[in-house]
Amino acid sequence: MTVATAEAGGRVHARIVLLKTLDERGLTFFTHYESDKGAQLAANPLIALCLHWKWLDPPAQVRIEGHAEKLPARESDAYFATRERLSQIGAWASLQSRTLPDRAALQARVREFERKFEGREVPRPDEWGGYLVVPEMVEFWYAGAHRWNERERWDRVDGTWRGRMLYP
Ligand SMILES: Cc1cc2nc3c(=O)[nH]c(=O)nc-3n(C[C@H](O)[C@H](O)[C@H](O)COP(=O)(O)O)c2cc1C
Repeated sequence: MTVATAEAGGRVHARIVLLKTLDERGLTFFTHYESDKGAQLAANPLIALCLHWKWLDPPAQVRIEGHAEKLPARESDAYFATRERLSQIGAWASLQSRTLPDRAALQARVREFERKFEGREVPRPDEWGGYLVVPEMVEFWYAGAHRWNERERWDRVDGTWRGRMLYP
């Protein structure tokens, strides 16, 4: 899914991440808390998500707007524990979004953490974990003939979801 975040000053950023879970609380994804997106969310928790299914019949889009909060540590621990060991090592080795002088520098950090955790389980770094996106607005979009697309927008108002149609 596309994840858009904004700096406190208003500059907007977008990137793709893996939508990991969807439940009654909201949607989750996992990342480095000290990445650019992590810094943006710390300053401004407002967030927008966008998913596109071109191959559905009809093709569909879902847009979600809301705020992001860090998942409880035990939930991030649980998911981290299911990841393959080299991905776990990568979470330690990668200073996500910081300047990388060359690929050898990343390899050196990978080797450093392989040595550090040799013969034991790799714990989750504190700066790696999940965000829960709590939706305040969800819009479903379905492609229609002649671009007479269908749009259904839902807003959470005082804890109750209210739906309405939008002109395409
Ligand atoms: C298909 C795809 C899936 C990705 N999944 C994730 C993910 O789940 N978590 C993540 O942190 N970055 C993921 N990325 C990398 C992000 O797009 C991005 O490069 C990275 O998170 C750094 O973003 P930032 O500098 O804005 O914080 C993925 C990229 C692609 C293309």
